Amino acid sequence: MAFFVKSALHSYLYIILKTLSRKKSPLNKIMNFDSFSHGQIQSKVWLCKELERFVHANLKVAVLGSWYNLIAFMLLTRNQDRYQHILGIDIDPNVKRLADKITEAWRIGSDYKVENITADANTYDLSGYDLIINCSPEHMESNAWFDNLEYGTMVCIQSSDVQTSDDDVWKCINSNESLEELTLKYPLSKYLYSGEKEIRYSEDNGYKRFMLIGIK
Ligand SMILES: C[S@@+](CC[C@H](N)C(=O)[O-])C[C@H]1O[C@@H](n2cnc3c(N)ncnc32)[C@H](O)[C@@H]1O
Repeated sequence: MAFFVKSALHSYLYIILKTLSRKKSPLNKIMNFDSFSHGQIQSKVWLCKELERFVHANLKVAVLGSWYNLIAFMLLTRNQDRYQHILGIDIDPNVKRLADKITEAWRIGSDYKVENITADANTYDLSGYDLIINCSPEHMESNAWFDNLEYGTMVCIQSSDVQTSDDDVWKCINSNESLEELTLKYPLSKYLYSGEKEIRYSEDNGYKRFMLIGIK
């Protein structure tokens, strides 16, 4: 009898757990946790530290290829008063819900200063923004986003020498193998910062990131 009750309880528990796992939030199903990887976060900390030396006013910022807009999250967590508004633009409609959740602290009532939209950065009208951040230029089909920017706009561009073709999110269709290549591709009238950062895990596992901050 005890054995029968125990196995019936086990079956019941199994059904409950299975049902709960099926009901897992769709948010959990589409999150790509690589966005929180060592390289992703360290390179964005690097971006915040260098950029903040030049950001003192109440800026209107657009983040291109914003993914889950961790950049807005990090900039605002570090110093929310320096930014009047941060617009995240990503072409992938699946990322908006997660970007909205991650930046929710700045999406409600009087704290509202982040908006995440689904759009192509290469065709979106970026006039009126003081600062354009793009950490995804290697994933964008063209450089129209840069060509269309008004002269005098401040930009922060970060890219890497990672070469992949394996899936949609990481496909590098516009790669930048060196800081020199990045500088030639996105010429600026004034350079505030230019540098590279090595992310190395072992002798044969690592990559380089390059970053430019300046005025077009
Ligand atoms: C996966 S992230 C890569 C992250 C980036 N390398 C970094 O370190 O932050 C690239 C993002 O760019 C977006 N993207 C690609 N082309 C775009 C475009 N034309 N306009 C807006 N977003 C674009 C993709 O949807 C994707 O979310």
